[in-house]
Amino acid sequence: MNAPTVIAEVRALAHAARRVCVLTGAGMSAESGIPTFRDAMTGLWRRFDPEQLASEAGYRADPARVWAWYAERRDGVRAAVPNAGHVAIAEFGRRRPGVLTVVTQNVDDLHQRAGWPQTIRLHGDILADQWLQPCPRGRACDPADAPPDEPPACADCGNLVRPAVVWFGEMLPEGAIDAAEAAARGCELMLVVGTSGAVWPAAGLAGRARRSGAKVAIVNPHPSEIDDEAHWVLRGTAAGLLPRLLGDLHRDGKGDIGA
Ligand code: APR
Repeated sequence: MNAPTVIAEVRALAHAARRVCVLTGAGMSAESGIPTFRDAMTGLWRRFDPEQLASEAGYRADPARVWAWYAERRDGVRAAVPNAGHVAIAEFGRRRPGVLTVVTQNVDDLHQRAGWPQTIRLHGDILADQWLQPCPRGRACDPADAPPDEPPACADCGNLVRPAVVWFGEMLPEGAIDAAEAAARGCELMLVVGTSGAVWPAAGLAGRARRSGAKVAIVNPHPSEIDDEAHWVLRGTAAGLLPRLLGDLHRDGKGDIGA
């Protein structure tokens, strides 16, 4: 259980800091019903082979299988609802204009639907499409319709459509990682929520923040690979802890909802 003083300390810093960066991973959306990747038993990579389903080679080897898997994940994202953690982050940001930057590894749209559209997406957007090959004509990705379980393709040249997510071995969107690193360097507090810290460069952001002088707090019910970068490790969930850490100091009139 977290010491009440630890929660109060992080809460006080979050409300005093001029710049706060929240870095999220799949655990942020777990309480919205979207499976994580590496949780024992339930994680996607416990049940599926990431090389076959989250790589360009895997897609080229079996486009219909990968497309069907993403279609199923897209349905799950559309059916999901932002949880109390997403809402707490967005409300905190709206109450303190110019303070918050949200950086996510997640490809769902729950931060955006909770009211934080400016979320920096490091690994893309599962609900968006892009061409598998850059279009020689520079055309936007507007594929012809295709049978439900088939990936759409260009009517002229057969270029396949793929989900606009970063697959293993691919570069992150340049602007996104630059913005994320700038936010890590410039913040006074970094809240790291729901990530195993297994995948770089995202996993390096907490260390970068700390080396730049920020305080780092981790919110995760289990140990992660980057716990050593944190000044505080709060063992709890996103939906359980974020409203307590980021909730409105004055909502309850006592100045602090305590621990
Ligand atoms: N609240 C907070 N954290 C949680 C919760 C929760 N309710 N449930 C699980 N977690 C934690 C787990 O303990 C774990 O540390 O969330 C973390 C999820 O880790 P991963 O499944 O590895 O997800 P993530 O860290 O986001 O993976 C990074 O790997 O496969 C790639 O592109 C994929 O963006 C993903 C990247």
